[in-house]
Amino acid sequence: MHWTKTIAGCVTTLLLGAVTLSAGAQSAPAGHTPQAAAQQNREENWWKNAVIYEIYPRSFQDSNGDGIGDLNGITQRLDYLQKLGVDAIWLTPIYPSPQVDFGYDISDYENIDPQYGTLADFDRLVAEAGKRHIRVLMDMVMNHTSDKHKWFLESKSSRTNPYRDWYVWRDGKGETATSKGEPPNNWQSGFGGSAWQWDPTTRQYYYHKFYIQQPDLNWDNPKVHEAFRDIMAFWMKRGVGGFRFDAITTLFEDPSLADEGVVKDANGEPILDAFGEPELDNSKTDNLPGVHAVMQEMHAEAQRFDSDKFPGSRVLIGETYLPNIAELAKQYGPPGKPEFELPMDTQLAFINKLDVAVFRAKLTDAEEHLDGHLPLLLFDNHDNPRIDARYGDGVHDTDIERVLSTVLFASRGTSLFYYGDEIGMKTTPPTRKEDVKDPVGVTGWPKEKGRDGERTPMQWNAMPNAGFSAAGVKTWLPVPPNAATINVKAEEADPASLLAWYRGLIQLKKTNPAFAHGSNTMLDTDNTKVLSWMRQVAGSPTVVVSLNFTAEPQTVSLSIPGAGGKLTTLLKTPGAADPASLSTIQLGSFGVYVGEVGK
Ligand code: GLC
Repeated sequence: MHWTKTIAGCVTTLLLGAVTLSAGAQSAPAGHTPQAAAQQNREENWWKNAVIYEIYPRSFQDSNGDGIGDLNGITQRLDYLQKLGVDAIWLTPIYPSPQVDFGYDISDYENIDPQYGTLADFDRLVAEAGKRHIRVLMDMVMNHTSDKHKWFLESKSSRTNPYRDWYVWRDGKGETATSKGEPPNNWQSGFGGSAWQWDPTTRQYYYHKFYIQQPDLNWDNPKVHEAFRDIMAFWMKRGVGGFRFDAITTLFEDPSLADEGVVKDANGEPILDAFGEPELDNSKTDNLPGVHAVMQEMHAEAQRFDSDKFPGSRVLIGETYLPNIAELAKQYGPPGKPEFELPMDTQLAFINKLDVAVFRAKLTDAEEHLDGHLPLLLFDNHDNPRIDARYGDGVHDTDIERVLSTVLFASRGTSLFYYGDEIGMKTTPPTRKEDVKDPVGVTGWPKEKGRDGERTPMQWNAMPNAGFSAAGVKTWLPVPPNAATINVKAEEADPASLLAWYRGLIQLKKTNPAFAHGSNTMLDTDNTKVLSWMRQVAGSPTVVVSLNFTAEPQTVSLSIPGAGGKLTTLLKTPGAADPASLSTIQLGSFGVYVGEVGK
């Protein structure tokens, strides 16, 4: 499995039972009223069934006219995010960086890249977001640093430098005084080519899972652990609500340095990746067991801050591309040793095909095979073509986006989405190699065009540069021409827009108890055209959801034991009629129905 293959190929909180005092309980001390306890419960568990919004800061809002988004730009847009109903924003990396991998190559973990602003701007963003009940989550890149990080500069300066052992240095094969020999083994970088880079000064190879400029850290070194505990503390003291751990499954490599297996097709021929190289099985460089102890340690560090000012409120999210639900379940940690609160459920996210049976199976897995933990559901991020390119048919894209967003918000779990999804932004890849910004797109052109297409500027309005940047500014990636019609301002004025749909779903997630945190039970499970399920929580009416996965009209008949047939509509595709009853729900092309079931 190749990293870019993984990426491209696969690639509100409501009260959870407010705390109540039993009758006859002694009156609570001042400040410990039932209301205060309920409020505290809400704060502690804010991330449960919450709504998280991923921001690619470079592309969200440019406040200073340099064509690159920045922190003050995000602060300017907080009212929009509050109105949308998000509980937290996850910012992809904003630390100082040479920007080879647009921030995922970090040269200083305790500062802000001047392109994005200053620490003072960051503090202001956290404070202003807090006023709107929005948490700020940071990206935590622990697998690798930039090759310009002071640790690596030290490390490569000599074999005896105290930082030598902070990275993964190995001898080549067959090296002589005049030749560097061969890399230690066949391991490949996810971005093409060998994962080993020769250093002529110290005459050894260093390992890099990603770009050459992203040397992997050595997680067998306790000093590396200590450094990251300190980094997390630095940001938690500034009030961040948690972290998203980047590429976390690739933290460790097999010390035997054995070659990885080549993935073969049905005829026994090697499968080639986008770079024309044989695809490897990643068995020695991905999902090795050591990561669990590291995450238990990082979780304990985060909890240290939990008990400080905001009890229980730091959430740890994992970028967890994993082969199956059993592996995902392990990421929550064994009993008593928590790891992630929310490892990403990429099983659902990258089905990349509107297949009812597969959706049903994946949602059932998330409900039944995560040992009662809450899934983190998503469909999109900054590494994959947007939803239109993976699920759309070019004709009914907005209707299909309604279907998928309903899966995202109407299923039990925390919902994560990517900036611009709420208005239906489309993947807009570069058309000429010379315009490509993401290095992987330069190496892989034309088969692999890189990730620029899903990172274009946010489309706020129909003005030149779409309100992202002032008119006349050359933006870092071009604003797609479709910003003339696909933009926040136009959709705010249209009650039938995708943006209105997102707001409606998020509002339901915040106000309707069954919709927010009820159990998920699949209905009509033999149907291959319509996906239906119900949400149930004690004391609140059952909610049913039906989604037509086809372009043809469909009628479904649902039956729920003990329920009458009467339905009250909560949300439906604009223009659709209300169904007569539970037994006759008519859905138009890619139609959506969400209703409450009466007795
Ligand atoms: C993660 C990030 C991706 C980055 C890679 C290396 O997959 O999401 O953008 O290129 O890690 O840091």
